[in-house]
Amino acid sequence: AAEDKSFKYVVLGGGVSAGYAARQFAKEGVKPGELAIISKEAVAPYERPALSKAYLFPESPARLPGFHTCVGSGGERLLPEWYTEKGIDLILETEIVKADLASKSLTSAAGATIKYDSLIIATGSTVIRLSDFGVQGADAKNIFYLREVDDADKLYEAIKGKKGGKAVIVGGGYIGLELGAVLKLNDLDVTMVYPEPWCMPRLFTSGIAAFYEGYYKNKGIQIIKGTVATGFDSNENGEVKAVKLKDGRVLDADIVVVGVGGKPLVSLFKGQVEEAKGGIKTDASFKTDVPNVYAVGDVATFPMKLYNELRRVEHVDHARKSAEQAVKALKASEEGKTIDEYDYLPYFYSRAFNLSWQFYGDNVGDTVLFGDNDPTSSDPKFGTYWIKDGKVVGVFLENGTPEENKAIAKVARLQPPVENVDQLAKEGLTFASKF
Ligand code: FDA
Ligand code: NAD
Repeated sequence: AAEDKSFKYVVLGGGVSAGYAARQFAKEGVKPGELAIISKEAVAPYERPALSKAYLFPESPARLPGFHTCVGSGGERLLPEWYTEKGIDLILETEIVKADLASKSLTSAAGATIKYDSLIIATGSTVIRLSDFGVQGADAKNIFYLREVDDADKLYEAIKGKKGGKAVIVGGGYIGLELGAVLKLNDLDVTMVYPEPWCMPRLFTSGIAAFYEGYYKNKGIQIIKGTVATGFDSNENGEVKAVKLKDGRVLDADIVVVGVGGKPLVSLFKGQVEEAKGGIKTDASFKTDVPNVYAVGDVATFPMKLYNELRRVEHVDHARKSAEQAVKALKASEEGKTIDEYDYLPYFYSRAFNLSWQFYGDNVGDTVLFGDNDPTSSDPKFGTYWIKDGKVVGVFLENGTPEENKAIAKVARLQPPVENVDQLAKEGLTFASKF
């Protein structure tokens, strides 16, 4: 039955940020009964990136408890027992349906009230659905989205049941590229569809994308660009059978995976807290304009010091670091102290097949492609520098060693000047290793 509770600290959300916040609370010192983590998921916080990668592998897939936070960054794995030992209440399978920031109280779907002194909002993102923009037939069975472990379990079952069948991936972003690869590894016949002229257009240049598209084609994945799914046909059991495209083509499909973007879960707080750029506006300590309320991870729009701009970031590295920053700031404030401003260097990465790339910094300005980006090479290694106002501001690298990845991160942080762009293209990685 619904039970009313009260805590000194509540983290709303049980994802990546929540796990790293819990660990930081434990480091700073938290007394039993002071902290609760509330999640609509049934499991303790875990490293979400595993869901689109090793979780779906055909052989020895990753499973919980293997990837609870904070293993993703090489840290301690926080099992459910850890929370019990620390006296942290892990309130699972509990969806908060109402938040009243004025009275510092949350209400669960079951009708329980949870009170707090300080709140950290860590509700993350949810998927954008094709039904959100009225795509016909989009509620057919075997059309999947991927956000939480429950979604991954359903997809995994379908993959097992449709071996040798046809899969259509709608979307050419992170989910599209990672799922296209993993479904192919599962022996499905994969076709990807996306509206843009090349994949991952928000980050990739045409030169970067050409490598991945070529590599995927060589793996036997069909790629259809410049069009969108406008409808789905299903059989008498309501299972998807075909994807209808705007350009008139019809693709057979036993499984469809949709990855057309995410949106931050901020609706609970509408009108109660200042927003910016689709997220909850915070300062450099992730404090919102409401006293004792913080926002971290995907939902936070924070000052990015390096670029002197408010930004929102939907990636795991920031989810981890923002959570740690917020908890440090919260604990410091109790002693009347402040901490250093968050000074974030954007870091994004992805892995698929034997590929692995990292990106640091800002993808603005002119670009210089370097290295071997032939998708048929046995050991391709290439990258791109972004140059703005005569300085390198962003670097992308496929297949870098740990040292090389460290070097490109350093360059993106230091923003060294570039005198000669042709020279930079020739030097390639050598340029980065000088710093
Ligand atoms: P996250 O989404 O992790 O957690 C939010 C939590 O809040 C969830 O547990 C949710 O159930 C809960 N919640 C929301 N509303 C609630 C409510 N009303 N009541 C109770 N609970 C509620 N990034 C990257 O850099 N590299 C990568 O490889 C990947 N890979 C990747 C794969 C997949 C499949 C996804 C979906 C995402 C990634 N990402 C990624 C992005 C990364 O995982 C993401 O940025 C972080 O998980 C964000 O962390 P948060 O804690 O903000 O949200
Ligand atoms: P995304 O924003 O990366 O990509 C969305 C893609 O959807 C666009 O690139 C476009 O190709 C496509 N698209 C848009 N409208 C479409 C339409 N009507 N029909 C077909 N395609 C359409 O979002 P995502 O891939 O769905 O990822 C969801 C969230 O998960 C994001 O926050 C992302 O950062 C995160 N994620 C990150 C990683 C990673 O960092 N490695 C991996 C997986 C997921």
